[in-house]
Amino acid sequence: MRLSGYFLPTLKETPSDAQIASHRLMLRAGMIRQSSAGIYSWLPLGFRVLKRIEQIVREEQNAIGCHEMLMPTIQPADLWRESGRYDAYGPEMLRISDRHQRDMLYGPTNEEQITEIFRSAVRSYRHLPKLLYHIQWKFRDEVRPRFGVMRGREFLMKDAYSFDADKASARRSYNKMFVSYLRTFERLGLKAIPMRAESGPIGGDMSHEFLILADTGESEIAYHRDFLDMSLAERQIDFEGDLQPIVDDFTAQYAATDVERDPEAEKALGDALITGRGIEVGHIFFFGTKYSKSMDAGVSGPDGDEVFVEMGSYGIGVSRLVGAIIEACHDEAGIVWPESVAPFKVGLINLKVDDPDCSAACEQLYGSLGSNGVDVLYDDRSERPGVKFADMDLIGLPWQVVVGPRGLKAGVVELKSRKTGEKQEVGLESVLSMLST
Ligand SMILES: Nc1ncnc2c1ncn2[C@@H]1O[C@H](COP(=O)(O)OP(=O)(O)O)[C@@H](O)[C@H]1O
Ligand SMILES: [Mg+2]
Repeated sequence: MRLSGYFLPTLKETPSDAQIASHRLMLRAGMIRQSSAGIYSWLPLGFRVLKRIEQIVREEQNAIGCHEMLMPTIQPADLWRESGRYDAYGPEMLRISDRHQRDMLYGPTNEEQITEIFRSAVRSYRHLPKLLYHIQWKFRDEVRPRFGVMRGREFLMKDAYSFDADKASARRSYNKMFVSYLRTFERLGLKAIPMRAESGPIGGDMSHEFLILADTGESEIAYHRDFLDMSLAERQIDFEGDLQPIVDDFTAQYAATDVERDPEAEKALGDALITGRGIEVGHIFFFGTKYSKSMDAGVSGPDGDEVFVEMGSYGIGVSRLVGAIIEACHDEAGIVWPESVAPFKVGLINLKVDDPDCSAACEQLYGSLGSNGVDVLYDDRSERPGVKFADMDLIGLPWQVVVGPRGLKAGVVELKSRKTGEKQEVGLESVLSMLST
């Protein structure tokens, strides 16, 4: 992408109404624009990041045999009357009526809708288990939308739903999601800790929130320090095998949020306890027959009797993650994208666009990096070097290649790692091979 023709409206001033770093940086880096409270447009740079996160989430859902589909944003109220949630949901639900005065709503979540689809299509336990998901915009009329995309009113969520014939099978579905979430967040460059969460009316231990550590997080968290060194890293994972040992490892130590916190357990941990704040980026939840009963979603079991399906739902805040990743990955100069979600891998800075040698070298690099499949944002604007450096640091691409007349005379360009700040002089050929891996 050539910056001269791109749409990247960066801001020099710090927006005064943005309270946390990620919100400020997203506005300054030209990633989003507010439309109304808690509702945002995604500008080209922000949209690229959103799509990259979405794609990682998608690949990891597909990897466990969860099938992607797409349900609408607008739902009929009648479905929610069946489950009893039309009245129970309260003012967070955006209620709409169509030209025939039929009650509709903008979906805050999709349990009712997926249950309706399931019950009309599946009749026998033999077709279970099933895992389905979609990545779709939600609307919740939050009392206090704030922190930009972190707590929006309109936001993008991946929500998955599991259908099983019995509890043992439901646990296997839950475990698949649990491990898939660990993998997803690791790929996103995040340290996300699974924490015991409120499990609602049916109780049990099958509700976990995944939180990343950040002082600006809305949740109060407490956890055993061992979590800081835990990762799936080299572990072999067979999603069709027994995942319970992995889940056990990641739930053996204490970790809880808000109302689930247990003062006794925390006292017992002594020095091993860490308390702080975190951002909820995912939530998995087993709720048994709550919706299958109220909405009459049954299948015939092995002995011919009708059984209500055991269900769970599994959310990831895709748009929230954009902000959450920035909270975890930034410095004074701007964003520092993990490579897996960066909008471009390389920022190519031409220090002197009116110098034919500089421009020729840049064009050549831009072309060959492109043919090697590397996403490059080429700053070909006739701006001062200082402006270019500041913009490039602000938008946080992992690698910067700086091409100037002096270096070119010696056949070198400067390669800078945004994360470490480390700079090295490298030849044109080697910079190509170094960035093409
Ligand atoms: N208002 C919001 N803005 C952005 N993301 C949200 C919002 N509400 C929820 N999410 C994301 O969607 C995920 C699933 O939502 P859910 O657990 O149903 O929400 P909540 O925790 O608010 O009840 C959350 O873990 C979070 O990452
Ligand atoms: Mg939640």
